Formats: sequence, C-alpha cells, structure tokens
Amino acid sequence: MPAARSESESRRARAGTLLKPVRIGLLGCGTVGTGVVKLLRANAAALARRLGAPLELAAIADRRHGLDVALGLDPNLFTKDGAALVARPDLDIIVELFGGEEPARTLILKALASGKDVVTANKAMLAAHGEQIFRAADKAGRAVGFEASVGGGIPIIRTLREALAGDRQRAVYGIVNGTCNYILTTMTERGVEFAEVLAEAQRSGLAEADPSLDIDGHDAAHKLCLLVALAFGVMIKPSQVYTEGIRAITQQDIAYARELGFTIKLLAIAKDEDGGIEARVHPTMIPRKHLLADVGGSFNAIYIQGEALGSSMYFGRGAGELPTATAVLGDIVEIARHRIAAGGGARSHPLGLPIEQIKRGRVKPMDDVVCEYYLRFMAPDKPGVLGVIASVLGRNGISIASVIQQERNAEVTVPVVMRTHEARERNLKRALAQIRRFRVVRQAPVFIRIEERL
Ligand SMILES: NC(=O)c1ccc[n+]([C@@H]2O[C@H](COP(=O)([O-])OP(=O)(O)OC[C@H]3O[C@@H](n4cnc5c(N)ncnc54)[C@H](OP(=O)(O)O)[C@@H]3O)[C@@H](O)[C@H]2O)c1
Repeated sequence: MPAARSESESRRARAGTLLKPVRIGLLGCGTVGTGVVKLLRANAAALARRLGAPLELAAIADRRHGLDVALGLDPNLFTKDGAALVARPDLDIIVELFGGEEPARTLILKALASGKDVVTANKAMLAAHGEQIFRAADKAGRAVGFEASVGGGIPIIRTLREALAGDRQRAVYGIVNGTCNYILTTMTERGVEFAEVLAEAQRSGLAEADPSLDIDGHDAAHKLCLLVALAFGVMIKPSQVYTEGIRAITQQDIAYARELGFTIKLLAIAKDEDGGIEARVHPTMIPRKHLLADVGGSFNAIYIQGEALGSSMYFGRGAGELPTATAVLGDIVEIARHRIAAGGGARSHPLGLPIEQIKRGRVKPMDDVVCEYYLRFMAPDKPGVLGVIASVLGRNGISIASVIQQERNAEVTVPVVMRTHEARERNLKRALAQIRRFRVVRQAPVFIRIEERL
C-alpha cells in the first residue's frame, strides 16, 4: 500500500514545496483514456500547483499496439496485462477505462483490496455490480470516483452527492444518451426517418456499428440506476428499469407531437413517489417550451426536482474524449487531495451515505405507472370508428383530452390521434388490446407517454 504522508510532508506542502507524486495507473487508453493522458500532460503544472503534488501517469494497460508512438509516450509505461498493473504496489489511483463488466469489476475489487483508490467511467459495470463495488470501497476505506459514468463531462454525480445533499429529491429526468438525442433532434429538425439518421450517425462515428446499447435505451437505463442511487439512496438493477428505445419513432408521430405542442425525447425518468420508486426509460413527449426540449444534438441534460430547491438543470457534453476526461480528472484531483490532506486516507461512501444505509429498491411495476398518453390509431375512414375507440377507452377508465383527425377522406386508412388525461398503464394496454380485437384499426396502435408537468 502506498505510504501515508508524514506530518513533515504536510508542512512542506503548506510551505509550497511539491510533495512526492500521486501515481496513477490507467486501465484502457481508448477514447476516454487518451483524453485523460492529454489532460494530465497539458495541465500538469496547474494540477501540481493545485494539489501541492504532481499527478504522475505511472502505467497504462491496453492491448492495442502502437499507443506509445501515437501518444508520444515512453513504451515502458505500457503493458497489455491489466491484472499485473493493478497488482503493482507503487500506484495510488487506478483509473478503469476498459469498459464492459469483466475484467473491469474484478480489477477494481483487487485495486480497492490492495489500498488503491479507483476512478471509473463504467456505467454498465456499476449498474450491474455497483453495490459490490461500493461495499468493497467502504470496507477498504477507499474512494470510487465515477463522475464520468453519467452525463459525461456534466458534474452530476458530485452535484447530487454533495451540493444537493441537504434536499430531498423528488424526481430526476435525464437526457443521458447523446446518440439518441442526436437522432431524435435530427429527425425533428430535418424531417428524416429514423433509419436514415441512424445510418448517417454511424457513418460519422456518432453511433456505434452495433447501436442497440444506445438506441434501445439500455445505456440510459444503466445511468438511471446510478442516478436513482444518488438521488434516492436506493440501489436498483437495470432489469428493474422499464426500458424502451427510439426505433419505433416516426416522422408522423413527430409531426403530431409538434401539433400538440410537444417534442419527443428519450428520457430516463425516476420519481420517488409515496407509493414507491418509478424508474423508466422511454421516448417521452415533453412541452416544446420546456428547458429539456431545447437540449439538442448529442448534448445531455439532467433535470432534477428537489423538495426545497425546486427545479434545477445540468447541461453539457455527455460524451467524447476530452469532455469525459474532464470528469475523470475531477475525480482524480478530488481523490489525490484527500490522499494528501488525510495522510493517505481517502473519502469513502461513494454514494454519499454509508453503504449500510443504502436500501435495495422496489420499483413500481410499469403497469402501475400513471401518465398521460399520446395515441395514434390507423383506422379506415368510416363513420363510427372514433366512437368505438372512445367507448373502449372509456370503459377502461381512460378519458380523452383531445382528438386530431384532420386527414379525413385523404386516404382509405387515416390516422386518428388522441391525447388522454392521466391513466394507469395497465388500463391503457388493456384498452389497446381490446381495440385491436375489434378490428377497427389496421395496425398496432402507437402510444407515447407524455410528461407535461415536469
Ligand atoms: N467514449 C465516451 O465518450 C464515454 C463517455 C462516458 C463514459 N464512457 C465509458 O468509459 C469507458 C471507456 O470508454 P471508451 O469509449 O474510452 O472505450 P474504448 O475507446 O473502447 O477504449 C477502451 C480501451 O481499452 C482496451 N481494453 C479493453 N479491455 C481490455 C483488456 N481486458 N485488456 C487490455 N486492454 C483492454 C481497448 O482495446 P480494444 O479496442 O482492443 O478492445 C481500448 O483500447 C467505458 O466504460 C465507457 O462506457 C465513455
């Protein structure tokens, strides 16, 4: 374990003499890792002045060849063996940027057990194994910084854990996947269908070759698990988050949303209601005048409603080499400060409360969620169709707030668009199934949830 700072060292720091370096081991030198290397180098002098000790990049593990040449770094810094790097006794902080669940989880546990602090951007691993990692950190009295795991460069983790700790959070609404937000923004602005925008985004590197983690909502669900833990002190698993992506969004629904005064966003939504926690990711219609509706392109934003503060919003770049690296650097600096000030000790309680106080969360089943809905039916243009739909909805306790049926006589099958008042999801699904059985509609009805009072 790295040696604790002595009293004389602390005096030297106060007198302005630099202490011995805080030594960093980097697991993964891809997009974010490269950004970390660049920032450590570009800001070395300022960071050393800020901390009273230099931050030294002492080792890098990555299986790719030629990184030393590409980054102009000493080849002796590199290994392909992450386990060997973590086992080194001369490192203070391990920065995990491999991604994926394994070996990241195992290596982080080993690092913590051997007295090192950890910084990670790995939301997928933390969403699945966060409780184990945070318990291990508390047990070892070490820190786990994970600012980069939600909202990229937006300091939302620290904000929830520290700045808003005095309030009781009621709801969190996040635009936390830049790829989805880019696709939906482009569809809305240019009138192009989903498949075309996705293909464009893949060509320009904004979407992965296999985009399902992003566009099917799983990445947003991982981030929501972490936001729920920080906002409500409750750990939930990604499998507990109702998750629906953006593949089914069409120009037709975007146009009707506009007509109704809404914009469609992929939102990660968590609410702490008296009846339990809601946690869901799905395309959502929000008022066009809402702040979140203006979050365009690949930007992210997290909108929080606190009991005392009311609403606040945090906006910025949710991904990318340097934006994400700033969040990683922020964690490194905070941990290094603690190591220096506390004589080798570190802040624990990564979620802002002792791990014993974290509850296993019960999430309200999606069927019990109550919201307003946008509905679109494709129906033959015959008298009585609207009446049948309205009466089935009514029998299931769903009342209609407004109807758009402006393309009458335009085609054989016309869209019938409705906005409902608040209804329970179970009732809505039952009503839609009944409407399908009556064969008054030609395709599966489309429904999109509305959040108007956020
Ligand atoms: N990119 C972003 O903007 C962003 C934003 C927020 C959070 N994050 C998170 O940050 C983490 C890193 O993302 P990234 O985009 O930087 O990933 P990346 O570009 O794929 O970089 C990961 C690097 O680590 C290497 N690697 C992975 N597993 C390894 C192993 N077992 N042994 C040796 N080398 C290994 C990879 O090599 P190969 O290429 O050969 O696999 C690659 O060079 C992920 O958890 C991600 O979710 C990323």
